[in-house]
Amino acid sequence: MCGIVGYIGKEEAAPILLDGLSKLEYRGYDSAGMAVLNDDEIFMTKSKGKLEVLNQLTHGGETLKGHLGIGHTRWATHGEPSDLNSHPHLNANGTIAVVHNGIIENYAKLKEKLIKKGYEFKSETDTEVIAQMLDYYYNGDPLCTIATVMQRIEGSYALGVIFKDTPDVLYAVRKDSPLIVGHTDGGSIIASDVPAVLKYTRDVIFIENEEIVTLKDNEIKIFNIDREELDKPVKHIDWDADAAEKGGYEFFMLKEINEQPKAIKDTFSPRIKDGKIVIEELLMSEEEIRNIKRICFVACGSAYHTAVTSKYIFEGLARIPVDVEVASEFRYRDPIIEENTLVIVVSQSGETADTLAALRLSKEKGAKTLGIVNVVGSSIAREADMVMYTWAGPEISVATTKAYSAQLIAEYLLAMHFANVKGNLSDECLEEMIEDLKALPEQVELLVNNRKRVQRFANRYLAAKDVFFIGRNVDYAISMEGSLKLKEISYIHSEAYAAGELKHGTISLIEEGTLVVAVATQEEVYGKTKSNIVEVKTRGAVVMSVAVEGNSDIEDVSDYVIYIPETNKYFMNSLAVIPLQLFGYYISLGKGYDVDKPRNLAKSVTVE
Ligand code: AGP
Repeated sequence: MCGIVGYIGKEEAAPILLDGLSKLEYRGYDSAGMAVLNDDEIFMTKSKGKLEVLNQLTHGGETLKGHLGIGHTRWATHGEPSDLNSHPHLNANGTIAVVHNGIIENYAKLKEKLIKKGYEFKSETDTEVIAQMLDYYYNGDPLCTIATVMQRIEGSYALGVIFKDTPDVLYAVRKDSPLIVGHTDGGSIIASDVPAVLKYTRDVIFIENEEIVTLKDNEIKIFNIDREELDKPVKHIDWDADAAEKGGYEFFMLKEINEQPKAIKDTFSPRIKDGKIVIEELLMSEEEIRNIKRICFVACGSAYHTAVTSKYIFEGLARIPVDVEVASEFRYRDPIIEENTLVIVVSQSGETADTLAALRLSKEKGAKTLGIVNVVGSSIAREADMVMYTWAGPEISVATTKAYSAQLIAEYLLAMHFANVKGNLSDECLEEMIEDLKALPEQVELLVNNRKRVQRFANRYLAAKDVFFIGRNVDYAISMEGSLKLKEISYIHSEAYAAGELKHGTISLIEEGTLVVAVATQEEVYGKTKSNIVEVKTRGAVVMSVAVEGNSDIEDVSDYVIYIPETNKYFMNSLAVIPLQLFGYYISLGKGYDVDKPRNLAKSVTVE
């Protein structure tokens, strides 16, 4: 996520902006910039790279004089990391400056409209469109202009805005992206998150959706979109700086588990238009899609687990043969890549060495390649023929959660689109699936809020030595991710097994008290999985089952059941994985480990 800071008051703005931005670095970013109003002129410095670059360019803020300013750390979503794409963005004549955290979903349409009216753009960003929209609708009253533009942009935004004409007012706006405001000693400040303001104040106002803020050095006013003034409560923050970076959560992993509804929504929203799936990054004609003979997914770790799920979905919906390969194996076995093979590489970081090597090998062999990537401008994003971004925002915890969930969404969208183009999925069925997709964020939120039940069960198994995760079909893929989450952060040995495969050897390991997690969301094989549960129960296993609400008969064969809401069978992974993420998290927490930085692991494995 991007970070924004703004200041107006008796102090020089630039040093305060730099300090505030430094407290937001944990959010992840690839460029930074500031704009300050001084002597009736907006001065701006911005660049690709870390905050230190901006610090040096402005000599610690010395070169940007003025008492009103806005600053930004950019996590690229639209447009690669570059000086030009960095924020702030200005309108054509440099009288308005904007910093933005969020995604404007209809920016392309608005940009096209402004270009037809003679506007020129310097960057590839959605944010520059906001600056030009404010210019286009500017009527001398910034508050009115902002309200007018808010009614025309769709998506998520937290904005800091300065207008040359009103040198004594800082403006801020919020919709879906977080924004807080508060007083400093002799000034006022805005920021994306609490850590940026703690040095100046612990009394803040959390701005809510479609609220506009005007800040003067000694006055803060808040308005709704109809420009009616609101009376908002001031909250006292008693977190320390470290807790504040995690939004009050003990670890980034739990914060990111909680961010999954937004990551899911941000990944599908811009790609669903009028009941259809529109994937603009997919540079393939419908004929090319129809001509795909095979899809080969290549990835590592959790990204690989999403691909295992996708095999069932693409083959089930689009009737396209799918292979799923671990990148470190694929790259060394001289794979056969026939004509009309689409290779899809999945990677949160976009820098995983094995996956990048697999991508390069696939291109050498003539495959068309698509990257599903979370980090804009990463190596895989740049080298794949096409890239479909997951908009999960920066993921800090080594154990992936929100990026995994966003990858699933990207793969669902592709499978549904391919199936619809091939005529295997009617428009009506597609619309039904889209409705199920739209319900996922709220369903995930319900499961995340229900986490205390999972914590109680997890606390009973802190001493577990061997845990087995079993499932069939998509449930087997879900089991893989559940097992990895447990292993990588609690250091407990665990295996994921195709439930039907247990009797071919592994069931000999089941003994009195062995913990088995059974995932049973797939209706077609529910009875079979239930039989597998009985098999392990009769050998002494303790069973925690994950099942769809209504299948209460599962309680007859389980010691503990976590229910998930009903959804399309192909989307079950998005829901069933939540209690499994929480299970791993609470076991690790209970064992007193550093959940975010597990031993021996790195967030991105950029070496072999
Ligand atoms: C998952 O929790 C792990 N952090 C790891 O398996 C990860 O998914 C794998 O290393 C792939 O990383 P990538 O998505 O950045 O390519």
